[in-house]
Amino acid sequence: MSHQRVLTGITTTGTPHLGNYVGAIRPAVAASRLAGVESFYFLADYHALIKCDDPARIHRSTLEIAATWVAAGLDPERVTFYRQSDIPEIPELTWMLGCVAGKGLLNRAHAYKAQVDKNTAAGAEPDADVSIGLFMYPVLMAADILLFKAGKVPVGRDQIQHIEMARDIAASFNHLYGELLVLPQAAIEADVATLPGLDGRKMSKSYDNTIPLFVPRDEMKRRIQAIVTDSRAPGEPKQTEGSALFQIYQAFATPEETAAMRQAFADGIGWGDAKQKLFERVDREVAPMRDTYQSLIDRPSRLEELLQAGAAKARRTATPLIGELRNAVGLRRLAGAAAGSTPQAQQKPARAALPSFKQYREADGQFRFKLQDAGGVLLLQSRAYAAPREAAQAIAALQAPGADIAALAAGAAEAGASIDADAVFAALELLAAARGS
Ligand code: TRP
Repeated sequence: MSHQRVLTGITTTGTPHLGNYVGAIRPAVAASRLAGVESFYFLADYHALIKCDDPARIHRSTLEIAATWVAAGLDPERVTFYRQSDIPEIPELTWMLGCVAGKGLLNRAHAYKAQVDKNTAAGAEPDADVSIGLFMYPVLMAADILLFKAGKVPVGRDQIQHIEMARDIAASFNHLYGELLVLPQAAIEADVATLPGLDGRKMSKSYDNTIPLFVPRDEMKRRIQAIVTDSRAPGEPKQTEGSALFQIYQAFATPEETAAMRQAFADGIGWGDAKQKLFERVDREVAPMRDTYQSLIDRPSRLEELLQAGAAKARRTATPLIGELRNAVGLRRLAGAAAGSTPQAQQKPARAALPSFKQYREADGQFRFKLQDAGGVLLLQSRAYAAPREAAQAIAALQAPGADIAALAAGAAEAGASIDADAVFAALELLAAARGS
């Protein structure tokens, strides 16, 4: 099974607006439904602490963003959807990466440099108002990405430099400790619209020109009425070029609807009518999601459960990798192993920390096996076999050197079970390492 792992984070400082929806949320939800893609989407709340010291705002934003993604159709069964601060392996990896990242590299980060330039221009100390968190921003982001061996990271253009830094940092780590980390690539969606805001500039919280995605209908209508237009009267032909109203309409409409609106502009539609049409078109897409959103906001325990389950799922990937990395850098137990200094001479994982196969017979007389991780989490539940020998052969096949684990696991799994091939793979690797093969 060749699958591509896609990962992206959303900083939890704001309230999602139409620009976030069109530019990030909608395409990400669509991409998560493609076959052969394994998506990791998370709420970057540690990143939020860098720019926001208002606890209530971070908490509220986390709720709103989580509810938005689920209301927009993200299927938490299909993707891994979690909150950054639920994954302790992320700050742990941040530290390890911080020890190989050059300070000179981080000096070049745009966000840091912008602050230094601002200070210098104002005649202040270069590092005035610069926290270590801001300086380390790219390292934390590298940890987010590298911990899950993500190959593709969809981001806005302003984040490309951070992905390049993650690559640099991963390469430094691999150079020192072996090929353990995957070098990620930024993915910039070419055909995704950047939405203009009320004033025609890019829709952004920092310009205070946004239309929130989930406000009550009347409020949405009022916001849309506030979009700037020129002073052409009804009956006068209007320009679509450079019209914020037209661009927002286009982002929601089908090609046919867009063509009809273009014609209406040429025919001199009044701005009031055009805004009404825009409101109706946006509302048609947003209204069904609004109800789901509201019910999730009203019952946060449902979202909390989803996030907890997401964190457990994410950690099935993160925990084995951080174990490998700890071992590679020399953070090892003192007993129970010959301490080597290279990845080739690895310490055997301690007994208690190993995944295990269990074979058993059910009341139906059939034989089955299951694979559990070290913590007892079920990774693979097998189908029924008529004889114990068949179950044992399936286990042996999974453990054979060079086995196509994804295919074998899929073949052995109980009908309808979804398996996390990477977690199975990681568990088998740990077992193989423990056997010393
Ligand atoms: N820095 C990103 C932003 O502001 C959010 C983010 C945090 C992120 N960690 C990430 C994006 C990892 C992609 C991958 O948009």
